[in-house]
Amino acid sequence: MDSLPTVTVTAAPPCVMVIFGASGDLTQRKLIPALYNLHRNGFLPNEFAVIGVSGSSLSDETFRERAAASISRHCEDCADVGFLGTATPRLHYLAGRTEDSATYQRLKERLEQVHASHGTRGNVLVYLAVPPDQFAPIARGLQGAGLIAPGGDRAPDGSWFRMVVEKPFGRDLASARALNGELLACMDESQIYRIDHYLGKETVQNLLSFRFLNGIFEPIWNRNYVDHVQVTVAESLGVENRGRYYDTQGALRDIVQNHVFQVLCLIAMEPPSSLGNEEVRNEKVKVLRAMRRPQEEALLRDAVRGQYSAGMLGGETVAGYRDEAHVAPGSATETFAALKLHIDNWRWADVPFYVRTGKRLPARNTQIVIQFRRAPLALLPTETMQHANRLTIQVQPQERIQLRFQAKRPGPGNHLAQVEMAFSYDDLGSDGRATGYETLIHDCMVGNRMLFLRADMVEESWDVLTPVIDLWQALPPRDFPNYAAGSWGPEAAAQMLIRDGRHWIDPEGAGAVT
Ligand code: BG6
Repeated sequence: MDSLPTVTVTAAPPCVMVIFGASGDLTQRKLIPALYNLHRNGFLPNEFAVIGVSGSSLSDETFRERAAASISRHCEDCADVGFLGTATPRLHYLAGRTEDSATYQRLKERLEQVHASHGTRGNVLVYLAVPPDQFAPIARGLQGAGLIAPGGDRAPDGSWFRMVVEKPFGRDLASARALNGELLACMDESQIYRIDHYLGKETVQNLLSFRFLNGIFEPIWNRNYVDHVQVTVAESLGVENRGRYYDTQGALRDIVQNHVFQVLCLIAMEPPSSLGNEEVRNEKVKVLRAMRRPQEEALLRDAVRGQYSAGMLGGETVAGYRDEAHVAPGSATETFAALKLHIDNWRWADVPFYVRTGKRLPARNTQIVIQFRRAPLALLPTETMQHANRLTIQVQPQERIQLRFQAKRPGPGNHLAQVEMAFSYDDLGSDGRATGYETLIHDCMVGNRMLFLRADMVEESWDVLTPVIDLWQALPPRDFPNYAAGSWGPEAAAQMLIRDGRHWIDPEGAGAVT
């Protein structure tokens, strides 16, 4: 393989990362390991420190010990203690409740000490790894203590303040608007980084390169050549220990509104004029604006929900959703959602976008299928025609791109086979045990907002889904649970495509391959 000149990624500028929710799962499983990986690969500056904040009373030492333990559990080559700081320790901890204004005063003092001891030049990246009801109170607390320099991304002295907000960002259009309003009352849009961890996945980022750095796909990437598009986000896990949270969310809010829509935007957007902060986001928001807001009649046909019952997965019996811990016994929360969507613009008019996601499906697998139209004239009798002309982008667990087409089998007669050209991401070298958060955290530090959601993007995506949410709330499901754990979801989801003369393309190696 020829290697091409690469853009050099340099170490981030000096800064302090303040993590709210520092004793929580996300910090220990993803954020600390991601920071360590950045350090190991030379992307963290020497002038860098962390202040962890949470309600638990921990000492600095205990926080550092926990960080070291999560690094050895989740990272390769975990021996580089330089990350924790050799002469001057880099990790600090502050116990404090987020609703208490004294917490922010103490944080301010701590920040001044850390800036002085670590040379971090007043630059602050706040990461909100906390439940969503704390997002606005923390923003207000930070503002009240004078920690958010006015004037957007850069204060007059050149320092910056940025804040990363985790999902879920609202639970419908009204609540997302209200949250945007509360955050924007405390800081500028350019300081808010609404994160979607799917955009940290290499294969998802590669969609931009695949589409816009190769001239060969663009001419056929439209309604003239594409029959339909499918996006599947399948999980074999159930709700694990998150029943309390998940039962208030459901599949539509948990996966479709954010991860699925972000993937769809990358597939459907127009070429941006550059990879600048706003150009890509401008094109993505246009896709969301062009998504049809479905009427009730269409929704009854084109939106399917499901909930799993007990079943078999990986040779083991697993419990039904309603029997999971902290789930209401008669819960109406959907663990599966499938939608037929339309993007009403010149590129995509009449091309259906089928999306589905679910828990307790046969395998963990995220894939995008671009099904091209069949050849206009069948020169040979073939039933397999509809399976060729297909581009499959596997996001996980394997990261690959395959193009499937027809070929003649050797020998007399005209017997056809379906063959594929495939690219596997491993060929470009593996990123080891990266968490998926490395790129996103580094982007925040360097001020690259391209992969983060802007206020209007979040609101548009809720606007598309709010009619579905309202309808599902008005009509409680009568058939739940309606799919067995280990199956591909309710029959109604299969019927939605069969009515259109199509079928779901299940991921290869994960149950039936069609
Ligand atoms: C999260 C959802 O955003 O994404 C979880 O809240 C889901 O319910 C997870 O399991 C899936 O992410 P990944 O990266 O494991 O596919």
